[in-house]
Amino acid sequence: MATISISEARSHVGEEVTLQGWLYNKRSSGKILFLQVRDGSGVLQAVVAEPDNPNLFAVANRLPRETSLRVTGTLREDRRAPIGCEMQLGSLEVIQEPTEDFPIELKEQTPGFLMDHRHLWIRTGSQVPMLRISDATFRAFRTFFYERGFVATEAPILTGASVEGTTTLFELDYFGEKAYLSQSGQLYLEATAMALGRVYWIGPAFRAEKSKTRKHVTEFWIAEAEMAFVDHRANLALQEDLVRHIVESVIKERKDELGQLKRDVDQLLEEVRGPFPRIDYGDAVKLLQEKGHEVSFGDDFGAPEEETLGNHFKKPVFIERFPVGMKPFYMKRDPRDLSRALAADLIAPEGYGEIIGGSQRVDTVDELLRQLDENHLPREPYEWYIDLRKYGSVPHSGFGMGLARVVTWICGAAHIREVIAFPRQINRLYP
Ligand code: 4AD
Ligand code: MG
Repeated sequence: MATISISEARSHVGEEVTLQGWLYNKRSSGKILFLQVRDGSGVLQAVVAEPDNPNLFAVANRLPRETSLRVTGTLREDRRAPIGCEMQLGSLEVIQEPTEDFPIELKEQTPGFLMDHRHLWIRTGSQVPMLRISDATFRAFRTFFYERGFVATEAPILTGASVEGTTTLFELDYFGEKAYLSQSGQLYLEATAMALGRVYWIGPAFRAEKSKTRKHVTEFWIAEAEMAFVDHRANLALQEDLVRHIVESVIKERKDELGQLKRDVDQLLEEVRGPFPRIDYGDAVKLLQEKGHEVSFGDDFGAPEEETLGNHFKKPVFIERFPVGMKPFYMKRDPRDLSRALAADLIAPEGYGEIIGGSQRVDTVDELLRQLDENHLPREPYEWYIDLRKYGSVPHSGFGMGLARVVTWICGAAHIREVIAFPRQINRLYP
């Protein structure tokens, strides 16, 4: 008899099969017992009636939630079931019966309690679909670049210098020398792009960020690409194609999960259709002022501003050409106005905030040295990076996407901590 996963059950209707998983929940109605069995790929209902099989009924009836088990029975069609079928339970084998009551109730519990039990919380409710959507999002990013001939590469996590400013660095002792956890692989991808042409990677990034918002974590997986012979404009076009590809492929692959989250998939598809607006930073400031925000030219946008922009455009929107003082040292300046950087942030709709930061990079030694000085950065740790501008430098651009931010938006989740298995926040290092 075949052992299958619950996600495959639909195509085995009429057959006797075995499933292995955990008892998610159970309820009874008179002499009929309904067991909800989960295996990570879905939840299936197994049914047994007391008069049909009193022994089996008695065994199943006393099992606590999260008992690990193997169930065997015949699958029959059930249109009301989310997976389209249920099991007529024939037999059951207990693998382990929990020694204590499972602490996560299937009702509202406080976020603090749930986060303290994150290792168990991830088994329940909307957590499983969200983690499955996260998996599909990572894959969609990789597929997009693989299909376009980019080369996957790596960047180190232990580094000797900062990328995104010195205020959010985690410092550590590296055999008596100062080292930092990487904030972004970008500088290294610039080097590999000069070796391989067009490169991408997904890797961890760390920010000692004191922000306690629903969009910030101190450790996240960044998805970055870097391209030789690509300018600012082409960089934005590629980002737009990427975001559309991710949203469309995740919707295709994870329809059931998005349904379980009650996500409005048509709205999501509408959001990524057609060109994404591109607006100048200065115009964004004006628009926000007209809508009553107290922002001035040179200010960073916070959550309320990003939400207003998202609601106004109802699409991801590029905010372009920031004043150079707002941005890191490596960005190329706009030749038409040297006070502006050839950079853009992509802001997601519905208040999900910035999902991508990118720019064209400085490509001459003179500009780079000047910009390092202006940012009060020492030259020595960046000697290798300066070298890249000495030996056949070319115009090049790239960007970094916060994958968890994208997943939060796709899921319509309330907080970034829900879409990361073990999120790290300023007040949380356990579990
Ligand atoms: O905008 P950022 O800081 O850009 C860079 O790191 C560039 N070096 C990337 C590049 O050009 N290769 O970060 C990129 C993205 C942001 O747009 C955001 O989506 C995400 O990373 N991000 C965070 N996500 C969660 N928590 C945080 N604390 C984040 N900080 C940035
Ligand atoms: Mg940014």
